[in-house]
Amino acid sequence: MASTSAATTKAADARSKTATKAAENEASVSVSLPSRREFLYYIWGASFALIAGEITAGVLWLSYPRFAEGEFGGTFTVDPTDLPESGGAPISKPEGRFWLSRPVMDGQETFVALYAVCTHLGCLPKWVDVAHRFECPCHGSKYELSGLYIEGPAPRSLDRFATTIIFTDGTTAQSNASGDPIPLNGKTIQSIQVDTGSRIMRAGKV
Ligand code: FES
Repeated sequence: MASTSAATTKAADARSKTATKAAENEASVSVSLPSRREFLYYIWGASFALIAGEITAGVLWLSYPRFAEGEFGGTFTVDPTDLPESGGAPISKPEGRFWLSRPVMDGQETFVALYAVCTHLGCLPKWVDVAHRFECPCHGSKYELSGLYIEGPAPRSLDRFATTIIFTDGTTAQSNASGDPIPLNGKTIQSIQVDTGSRIMRAGKV
């Protein structure tokens, strides 16, 4: 009987110790919750970090050119040895989707980079040597060497790309806002930069 009582007491002690241990563990893992003010600070801090990250990413995105040089959308550097003769058949640059053209305007040598896409419905006009003009195979629109509209359903002359010409004397000449052929003024071309990311649409059949 005495031994049974001792065993019961031992078991009770063990249960008590286990309960005490559990209580201690519970106490050690309990974390105090942030106050409402702290919580708002956390939210504000996270929002600020997110916005700052987005602004940084945007600045980096804008500071790098989106297109590499030599791919459509970027700038093409043209060597003068690649140019057509003044007044002669234009030369196609299919990788840049433009024509190198050197029309003679009012007796003046000029240069213009013509977008190779028809302004009607987007076909690709071809240069026809015997007619000395561009002719669109789809619906027959025709354009002069300068890109000027001649006839057909096209609503305007060929578009062109913004261009900078660097001359051997160190001077430069650039496309105007209308994209008119650039006069060379008797100067020698050192190189030409055609920006296929900057298309100039003609204001009608001019
Ligand atoms: S797409 Fe060129 S004439 Fe229609």
